[in-house]
Amino acid sequence: MTSPIRTERHDNVLVVISDNPPVNALGQAVRAGLKDAIEEAMSDDAIEAVVIRCDGRTFFAGADITEFGKPPVGPNLPETLDAMEASDKPVVAAIHGTALGGGCEVALACHYRVAVPSAKLGLPEVKLGLIPGAAGTQRLPRLVGAEAALPLVVGGNPISAKKAQGIGLVDEIVGEDSLEADAIAFAKSKIGQPVPRALEGTANEDGVRDPDLFDRFRASQARKIRGFDAPNAAIEAVKAAGTMSYAEGVKKERELFTELMSGTQSAAMRHYFFAERAANKIDDVPKDTPLIPVKKVGVIGAGTMGGGISMNFLSAGIPVTILEMSQDALDRGTGTMRKNYENTAKKGRMTADQVEQAMGLLTPTLSYDDLADCDLVIEAVYESMDVKKEVFGKLDEVVKQGAILASNTSYLDVNEIAAATQRPGYVVGMHFFSPANIMKLLEVVRGEKTRDDVLATVMKLSKTIGKVAAVSGVCPGFIGNRMLSKRQEQANALIMEGANYWEVDEVLLDFGFPMGPFQMGDLAGIDIGWHRDPSKVTTVREALCAVGRFGQKAGKGFYDYDEARQRTPSDEVKQIIADFAAKEGKEQREISKDEIRERLLYPMVNEGAKILEEGMAQRASDIDVVWINGYGWPLYTGGPMFWAQTIGLHTVVEGLDKHGLPVSNYMCERAAGSGKFD
Ligand code: 3HC
Repeated sequence: MTSPIRTERHDNVLVVISDNPPVNALGQAVRAGLKDAIEEAMSDDAIEAVVIRCDGRTFFAGADITEFGKPPVGPNLPETLDAMEASDKPVVAAIHGTALGGGCEVALACHYRVAVPSAKLGLPEVKLGLIPGAAGTQRLPRLVGAEAALPLVVGGNPISAKKAQGIGLVDEIVGEDSLEADAIAFAKSKIGQPVPRALEGTANEDGVRDPDLFDRFRASQARKIRGFDAPNAAIEAVKAAGTMSYAEGVKKERELFTELMSGTQSAAMRHYFFAERAANKIDDVPKDTPLIPVKKVGVIGAGTMGGGISMNFLSAGIPVTILEMSQDALDRGTGTMRKNYENTAKKGRMTADQVEQAMGLLTPTLSYDDLADCDLVIEAVYESMDVKKEVFGKLDEVVKQGAILASNTSYLDVNEIAAATQRPGYVVGMHFFSPANIMKLLEVVRGEKTRDDVLATVMKLSKTIGKVAAVSGVCPGFIGNRMLSKRQEQANALIMEGANYWEVDEVLLDFGFPMGPFQMGDLAGIDIGWHRDPSKVTTVREALCAVGRFGQKAGKGFYDYDEARQRTPSDEVKQIIADFAAKEGKEQREISKDEIRERLLYPMVNEGAKILEEGMAQRASDIDVVWINGYGWPLYTGGPMFWAQTIGLHTVVEGLDKHGLPVSNYMCERAAGSGKFD
């Protein structure tokens, strides 16, 4: 097998080049090749400096994640990097693309780093439930100080080359198109000088000067890192860089890394990494399916949903024509979009120019005719089959042939909607989640007749607008809402049997969700779909609406809200629920937290199994992607299906049985068989 590493001599500089597509992951062959190349440079007197660079789209994007959990084969990354840093000849990292994780650690072990302006550097290991494991937590703080290192190691988000230069992580920004030549020139300029080694950097003093630094940083991140193990370990490792010798610090990093690597959180987050990428692929749609160019998008409806959907495209530089029925509604909708952008700008996440640029791409209209030349039209109108059919009938008349017609429906039959047109092959579901400009998930609903090129285009487009897409077949509620309805059924039943509704919410908060079902109801609005007749009360929700408890927007729903939107349980609601339970003759009893958790979550897994059995999801991991990105299922458990495998499918089956809840055949088969869904 040929090595992915080759060397080229440029006078007295050895250029070491990695060619390991797609992202130059640091697999065994790459590590071995790097180590050999360094030895070649060391043993040759004619070589006085080394440049390390990568072919293809990026500098090393990290350790090879597919090797994790398998028996290690040497050389390992730390020893490879130590050999690099030990060199007395200057070693320069020449960075383009993304120097991530182990890739950033390669750069840190080099004596100097040069990068093109578009390059990014970062330590995203926390996103895999890990911390850097090749001395990154020890070299980085020694190079840039603990204060600058903390957000990089704990947050995991990459920074631009310019920012990296600002903190001292990059020594020089070089020409976008002359990386190799500039890196060689830089390396030559350092020949004969003593090499700076990150490991010899002064143990950072930040933590000594400011002993509260680490606690303050931890507190500032509390909401973001709630429930995650890796960020706390990352803080500990960076702290060690200031309090221990380099060798002890590396030992500490290794201990923390090894513990995380063998834990369930990292297994779950690594599962998710590959799940997200798999979800974008459709098994029976060929990879080379030609795409439909989407240069102009139409959106019908300028309400919360239509506005949010439009913003995704505007932010990605794609012009949008937005249609409403009245000038008033149109003005209100576009006004809200502008306000949202301006708020983002106020927070410093956008410039005023970018706001104008995005809004400049928006064309408001009252006429269907203005949608004629759109390549994609997304309908975001009221959830009624009659209304949707009427809209699609009109679109079929006015929009050019070959354009994609998408519905944002969250549960209606996309096949029936498609049948309202003469071109059902071009109809697809694009189910966005509210707020649509922020929520990551896009559920793509594949109709019976949806064409391959339509699907391939929508999947590609999802990436362009920064969404994570997963495909669902046509079934009521698709993947996400179909499973949600099972959870809601149990939540409603539990409060009738004696569980307090805030306890039900707390159980899910403890599990790691950002909110429970009753908080979610308050946030979305209890009055969604309400018939608006206070005298007709057949459910708890109708009873709440009848007394004006519409949710957060009314200051009261299941909970009472103060001005800071802090919630407190309401005696009035407790009484309403108790009256309902009495009327229905429901016996009241103490219900344990375990029972609440099992009854909320196990039926969802069972429904997920049915979705798989019916072929409504391509793979169990797609279901995990839907729930993590659309409904706040805690990432560190890997999603409902992965979590169920972690606790054991037989545990779920037994739990469902114990609570007298239905168990699907497929669920039983899988539990009795491999214990895995995929
Ligand atoms: N190991 C193995 N495979 C990897 C990989 C890695 N580190 N990074 C990406 N891949 C694979 C992906 O699975 C995907 O495979 P597929 O085509 O079969 O689905 C392919 O490379 C392309 O990846 P993307 O689709 O994600 O391509 P993008 O261009 O959208 O993104 C990227 C590129 C920004 C580099 C992104 O892939 C990424 O963020 N990768 C992970 C980076 C990371 O987490 N590095 C740290 C690893 S842990 C580590 O280094 C530990 C160390 O401290 C010891």
